Amino acid sequence: MRQERQIELLARIANAGEGLHGLYGSSSMVSDAAMYVDPERFAAEQRVLFREGPVFFGMSADVREPGSWRAMRFDGVPIVVVRQADGSLRALVNMCRHRGAPLVDPVGHGTGLRSFSCPYHAWNYELDGALRTRPAAQHAFDDVSMNCDLVSRPIVEKYGLIFVRPGGDEPIDIDAALGGAQDDLGAFGLDDYVLIDSRQHDWDFNWKLLFDTFSETYHIRTLHRATLGGMFHSESVFEPFGRNLMLTGLRSDVSTEFNKPEDERSLLPYGTIQYFLVPTGMVVHQVDHVEVWNIEPLDVGRSRFTTSVYAPAEPHSEGSREYFVKNLDLLLHVTGTEDFPLMEQVQRNLASGALEHLVYGKIEPALAHFHNEVNKAVEGPSPAAASRTA
Ligand code: FES
Ligand SMILES: [Fe+2]
Repeated sequence: MRQERQIELLARIANAGEGLHGLYGSSSMVSDAAMYVDPERFAAEQRVLFREGPVFFGMSADVREPGSWRAMRFDGVPIVVVRQADGSLRALVNMCRHRGAPLVDPVGHGTGLRSFSCPYHAWNYELDGALRTRPAAQHAFDDVSMNCDLVSRPIVEKYGLIFVRPGGDEPIDIDAALGGAQDDLGAFGLDDYVLIDSRQHDWDFNWKLLFDTFSETYHIRTLHRATLGGMFHSESVFEPFGRNLMLTGLRSDVSTEFNKPEDERSLLPYGTIQYFLVPTGMVVHQVDHVEVWNIEPLDVGRSRFTTSVYAPAEPHSEGSREYFVKNLDLLLHVTGTEDFPLMEQVQRNLASGALEHLVYGKIEPALAHFHNEVNKAVEGPSPAAASRTA
């Protein structure tokens, strides 16, 4: 993050006044509880947000070398991203053109791939998706005029981030998709980061509750009193970037930075700076590493998350690699024992239908922005009764 940006954000915090109330949003929002449990609503979100895209796929570091690949599903559409010999990337539909078998593990990743070989009848494809051979089937398909190359999808790589459009052909404007967040994200130098470790985990709650979990620090002093306790302010810094948003959790001692001359101030040591790349992920800048969350909704009440940790450069020793792995362990321990079990209970409660509405308060402006944007995408620009001012 550029230093002028850090100074600007620190000034917002310094000027927020008593109890940091200046960081509050302008109004609270009442939202329909059904948004988390209605299967029709879920299907619409899947189609509009996840399938039509464009969506954040992951980091350049996920597929660094030629032959490295990563596969994910978006509204069920299986996509594999693979690095080509010339360094470019391809996004291919991970389905054999013969009879639809997946060519690689639909939620896996790997390195050293030279071609795609179908596990069903061994059709073989180049890394760019071109059909190479149909072994043991001479003349068996010589009357087929259909294009049998793998289906290719738009993909763009910039700022160390990868975006794809899983269910369409329209080219991607990555700057439009980032909505202005590229100024900060570009300055983090994410192109150079290296992947350290990655874990997949499934939970019984709606995908939006993952964003809800991270979109306020108001819950930290109660839900995390045993682990993070007084380490963070309940108020946080929020900025919208189109459909996306930035939310910075502030360490309690951030005000010590105000004693320094303005041009020497730095926000980075005091902030957990999160970029929500709606709907598929989140990039979190910590002082010495980056965490990335990928989201795959499995059902209206079930979601799969992949959490990965990246270091600014290849660790120089086993001990330093271990340090980053421990950070990932700690993150997954706190979220996995404190946040997500509670979200499963929230989901079960909401599914009962006993509450019609939920409230996102002025202390939670990122929640209101996120849900307004999802409503807008799914329902069109003037949201109906789904959301209104409290
Ligand atoms: S389905 Fe792939 S070769 Fe038959
Ligand atoms: Fe939390």
